[in-house]
Amino acid sequence: MNYYITTPIFYPNSKLHIGHSYTTVATDTIARYKKMKGYNVKFLTGTDEHGEKIEKSAKAVGTTPKEYVDNIVKGILELWEKLDISYDYFIRTTDKSHIEGVQKIFKKLYDDGEIYKGVYEGLYCTPCETFFTESKEEDGKCPDCKGNLNTLKEDAYFFKLSKYTDKLLNHIEENPNFITPEARKNEMINNFLKPGLEDICVSRTSFKWGIPVTFDTNHVVYVWIDALSNYITALGYLSENDKDYKEYWPADIHIVGKEIVRFHTITWPAILMALGEPLPKQIFGHGWLLINNEKMSKSKGNVIDPSILIDRYGKDAIRYFLMREVSFGSDGSFTNESLIKRINFDLANDLGNLLSRTVAMIEKYFDGELPLEQKNTEYDKIIIDLSRETFYIYEEKMEKFMFSDALSSLWTFISRSNKYIDETKPWILAKDESKKEELANVLYILSESLRFIAILINPVMPSTSNEIFRQMGVPDNIKTLESSKEFGIMPKNIKVSKGDIIFPRIDIEKELEELEKTNVEKTEDKVIKKDEEKINIKEQITIDDFFKIDLKIGTIIECERVKKSDRLLKSQIKIGNEIRQIVSGIASHFSPEDMVGKQVVVVTNLKPVKLRGEVSEGMILAASNDDGELDIVTISKIMNGATVS
Ligand code: ME8
Ligand code: MG
Repeated sequence: MNYYITTPIFYPNSKLHIGHSYTTVATDTIARYKKMKGYNVKFLTGTDEHGEKIEKSAKAVGTTPKEYVDNIVKGILELWEKLDISYDYFIRTTDKSHIEGVQKIFKKLYDDGEIYKGVYEGLYCTPCETFFTESKEEDGKCPDCKGNLNTLKEDAYFFKLSKYTDKLLNHIEENPNFITPEARKNEMINNFLKPGLEDICVSRTSFKWGIPVTFDTNHVVYVWIDALSNYITALGYLSENDKDYKEYWPADIHIVGKEIVRFHTITWPAILMALGEPLPKQIFGHGWLLINNEKMSKSKGNVIDPSILIDRYGKDAIRYFLMREVSFGSDGSFTNESLIKRINFDLANDLGNLLSRTVAMIEKYFDGELPLEQKNTEYDKIIIDLSRETFYIYEEKMEKFMFSDALSSLWTFISRSNKYIDETKPWILAKDESKKEELANVLYILSESLRFIAILINPVMPSTSNEIFRQMGVPDNIKTLESSKEFGIMPKNIKVSKGDIIFPRIDIEKELEELEKTNVEKTEDKVIKKDEEKINIKEQITIDDFFKIDLKIGTIIECERVKKSDRLLKSQIKIGNEIRQIVSGIASHFSPEDMVGKQVVVVTNLKPVKLRGEVSEGMILAASNDDGELDIVTISKIMNGATVS
């Protein structure tokens, strides 16, 4: 039984943050679980190294794109090592085998009439690496990041995505688990498939850092055909050595973040249909790790560096937190406090204590070697029954990737085992020589509980699992998932060996203060970010050019939504004695009430335009970033009508 599972391939344009670790730890958890279930698992991850953004980032720091990505990829490999990620393949889209694979795929699609040459004329957002059609554009801003769009006209190849609309709808209908969770499926059907798909541009001529189209070398393959194909080029698709492709494709599951579900459930399956290859069996779109209710991302400067946390608390604490705190599929918040509390309560108190108390008592009362006595008292029965019930829930939840629920049911068992110690009071039994057998029995039950727990935490916390096995002296043949269904199979003469405390307790307040200080790291990141952003600076202008722009301070006196538009607000702005009407694409960021009273900076000599039938005489200055955040430039002291220069 094969099981082929993938993460997305990551952009090596900056150090990875804990949001990226989240995708990868979740995928690793599934991979390890499936291995325990007896599957022959193949786990693919890697890096997505081409594109204009990386070309520009490299230029900004004076290196070649390849040197630039090599350096970041090295850090990514170290991070996966540090987090115990058990991948089998690591693909880089700059690998020769991938490049050749993509070139063959592109050629095949072209030869089969699935790709055609045309002229692309339209708007392009550089930060998002996305083209937009005129119909979606309202005011020259990117609908995703709200940054300025550039007009581009160039020869380009197009993939006939439009012809796959019905085929995709049918496939989704016939395969209810193709897109999960359910909500993402509905989103794809209603927002993209039902309105009908448009052909997509799949080559570019305006930058070089990409895979050249073999039969038209001015063109490089544009982002998605390059990136998505990794899932099959990694297996040798269309190469001489396609043994793995034959054996492992179609993938059992692609794990992806929710913002790229569309490319994985529409673009990718359509490409595969065009190639005449089978589709992946399932795509799972997980949610985002948030900070203060916003997506953690590099461009916002709100990233948490996983390495710092791993160094402080250990990889398993981080892995546990990620899988326990957020329910897979939904968004979830990261806070230092929630992390430390999970470590203290769940790991140090519950799990850590159970292990250290059990080992200490076996050492103290039986010299580390447990005599085997099992009598099955009333309490024992509760533990044994609960272990069976826990296994059942755990398995059900893991099969559905509900890691948090699986762990939660396991922690109920852990708490019950701790309570068992309090009920049986081994320290009192130990005082009475005639209770020796009973004492051994209690400790035997606890050892079995720990063996059971160590097996079930294995996919999430592999090294803790091994440490528990080691301290408890569990033989290999009863570390399997199958063997966790049986309680009472620990053999004779097992010797425990005490180890370090697996999760030391943390002084919460002190630690929170310390963690705040590591924000220094964030400041450093911001400095790096500044350098990278130089790349987006436009061509130089003279002071005379600048003075051609007339900027004045105005006060918004009225504001309302533009009819039939989700994005536009219409403001009446008092500038000196004049009142101007300006339409801006900011309705998803500000309500009309937010706007009234604001002192804003207005470009007053911009040629008037009509947007959705409303005249707009000028522009309000706003700032936006890659991640869709937007704010208005406001001024607090200066008087209305003043000139900005
Ligand atoms: O999208 N929370 O790469 P990427 C949860 N190269 N997951 C997050 C996250 C957060 N805050 N931030 C990022 C790409 N991720 C493409 C993929 S696949 C053929 C090409 C996740 O580096 C994100 O959702 O921007 C995605 O699944 C993964 O990290 C890689 O993101
Ligand atoms: Mg992304």
